[in-house]
Amino acid sequence: MKDMASVSYILRAWSLLFLHGCITGYPNQANSEQEDTRNCMINPPYLPPTVTMTGDRLKTLREHMQSNNLAAYIVPTTDAHLSEYIAERDKRLTWMSGFSGSAGTGVITLQKAALFTDSRYWIQAERQMDCNWELQKSAWTDAIGQWILNEVPTGERIGLDPFLFSIDNGEDYYQILEGENRTFVPLEDNLVDLVWGTQRPPPPTNIIYHLSDDFIGSTWQEKIANIRMQMEQHSKKPTAVLLSGLEETAWLFNLRGDDIPYTPVFYAYTLLTKTDISLFVNRSRLSTEVVQMLTTECPGSLCVKLEDYGQIGASVRKYAQQDGVVIWIGTEYTTLGLYQEVPEEKLLKNNFSPVMLAKAVKNSKEQKLMEAAHIRDAVALIRYLVWLEKNVPKNSVDEVSGAHYLDSLRRQETHCKGPSFQTISASGLNAALAHYSPSNFTSRKLSRNEMYLVDSGGQYFDGTTDITRTIHWGEPTAFQKEAYTRVLMGNIDLSRLVFPPKTSGRMVELFARQPLWEVGLNYGHGTGHGIGNFLSVHEWPVGFQSNNIPLDKGMFTSIEPGYYHDGEFGIRLEDVALVVQATTKYQVHEEPYLTFKVVSLVPYTRNLIDESLLSQDQIRYINQYYETIRQIIGPELQRRQLEEEYRWLEQNTQPFSHATLLAASLGTLAVSTLASTILPAAQH
Ligand SMILES: *[C@@H]1O[C@H](CO)[C@@H](O)[C@H](O)[C@H]1NC(C)=O
Ligand SMILES: *[C@@H]1O[C@H](CO)[C@@H](O)[C@H](O)[C@H]1NC(C)=O
Ligand SMILES: *[C@@H]1O[C@H](CO)[C@@H](O)[C@H](O)[C@H]1NC(C)=O
Repeated sequence: MKDMASVSYILRAWSLLFLHGCITGYPNQANSEQEDTRNCMINPPYLPPTVTMTGDRLKTLREHMQSNNLAAYIVPTTDAHLSEYIAERDKRLTWMSGFSGSAGTGVITLQKAALFTDSRYWIQAERQMDCNWELQKSAWTDAIGQWILNEVPTGERIGLDPFLFSIDNGEDYYQILEGENRTFVPLEDNLVDLVWGTQRPPPPTNIIYHLSDDFIGSTWQEKIANIRMQMEQHSKKPTAVLLSGLEETAWLFNLRGDDIPYTPVFYAYTLLTKTDISLFVNRSRLSTEVVQMLTTECPGSLCVKLEDYGQIGASVRKYAQQDGVVIWIGTEYTTLGLYQEVPEEKLLKNNFSPVMLAKAVKNSKEQKLMEAAHIRDAVALIRYLVWLEKNVPKNSVDEVSGAHYLDSLRRQETHCKGPSFQTISASGLNAALAHYSPSNFTSRKLSRNEMYLVDSGGQYFDGTTDITRTIHWGEPTAFQKEAYTRVLMGNIDLSRLVFPPKTSGRMVELFARQPLWEVGLNYGHGTGHGIGNFLSVHEWPVGFQSNNIPLDKGMFTSIEPGYYHDGEFGIRLEDVALVVQATTKYQVHEEPYLTFKVVSLVPYTRNLIDESLLSQDQIRYINQYYETIRQIIGPELQRRQLEEEYRWLEQNTQPFSHATLLAASLGTLAVSTLASTILPAAQH
């Protein structure tokens, strides 16, 4: 999707986008396109009411460009921490162009303005941009670079804000442009911000709080000690660790905030040395309790020095000027801006910081917290599924109202702070777009005659959740049943896999695809991603991509195969699973083998499963999973007197019969009676 040269960065972006990118505004009626999208070919151009008029903004931006002697200026869609979801005040490209998609790059020259984005967003761009902007149907850095080379004469300067580019992405531009006698100019001031001025939303002022002891796996002092120990033990002898990712600082200090959508983090950086800890944050946002917590051990090596957020660049520069220092960074989350402050020989570069890696492995308390959050999350989703079963036949639910209702059910759950991403609620052909999110514009009625896909999650103080189920309330076609069953088989085969310790996710994700491949089907996105304890729903670096770290005990990942049939329907079955020790017949290796324990506890859709395709092992697995759901979720529903939901659960977790061949000849009823007598284990 982006540039192959910066492989790790794009792969990150790629899989994130492909798991939950949002498509808003996909037209489901071809004839509505005429009025919804701009037409720049006629005179005067036709502009729908959804466009932003950008003439004045561009004029002012170009004045700033000229006073900086720039022929072009590049505007990306991220923030200074390379966050996946960004706050309004960081939506610079949206403000400049009108385009609100989550992935895209703008390039403004003195004559032209171009938006580069991938196919998910082309229609949306035509709906939101006026005719000052041209749409370039590519998102690759190479394509952007080539366009700049065509538009900008040799010898000219191209500007950007180095705090909005990863090291890799920045270097890619540098290589394309400098080699062609164009100068690449990192500017201290962000020119869009200068134009935006007082209209730009102000920095957040809401409180930054600490998690209560009930919700943390270890104290911040223990975490600091662990990271310092890793510094000691490292052969390159780093003297400091620099943390740029918002989740890194939030995790390290057990602090949370509300600065960006869907992820409970706050704007901050951390510079942790062997003797000092500097937290760069707006100090007045910390409660006295938090300040107290961070400074009780002052002076000393566990004293947290609070410095202004804006001081990070100067402080890193100053630290790097000392003799004998080595700063350890994770290149995936460090911007070009901070990178430039440190001489190359004083850097220890890994893809991920030691904090990112420590955060990926959850200790036993963190595991318990995650599991507890998933129990309440299952209750919310089951309540939604029961509600749909009653309301869809009345034709009273559409994608948007359904998503709102589900979000409200989650919010009723204890410790819930809201959704962990925008709920994907997609009916019929809308679900064939793997990353669709409903808008008023595209919302379809849910119907007994269509499949429905719902991918959603919550942020709870104890854990973050993410689950997808696909439903059909009427009569699915044989093909729909087969596709659903094969997606389920892939989910099961990967979930029950036993594998050696430290196996790469990339090596095993084929198990999730094999049942689809066998019949010539597949899905065009990643198979899963890590997930945090009340942090990001897409937590790097765990997952099944080639740039993910090997799977290890204590990691959580989603497992989410799917199948998307263009113009008709989409299927995805997603569960969150914990990597646990497996019990194997032989134990000849010192380190035990691993497997997954699924912690999402919601049954699959009965009428979409073609039992005859399932192997005995798959049936045994699903029966055991259903038994676990009954044992854990059943009592919880009863405790809350959710009787209807309890009955629904009982009904939807009936074990499958092992005697599938007999089923065909005897009829299902007879066989399930038979199964319950010959296979009592499956019932309990
Ligand atoms: C680079 O551009 C400058 C300014 O136009 C020009 O003087 C110089 O000859 C160019 N160098 C090359 C190698 O093209
Ligand atoms: C810091 O937060 C306070 C409110 O807590 C706010 O008034 C102030 O403007 C913020 N400062 C910056 C630089 O964001
Ligand atoms: C969508 O429609 C609902 C109900 O008519 C309305 O309350 C809401 O503001 C609309 N949302 C947008 C983004 O237009």
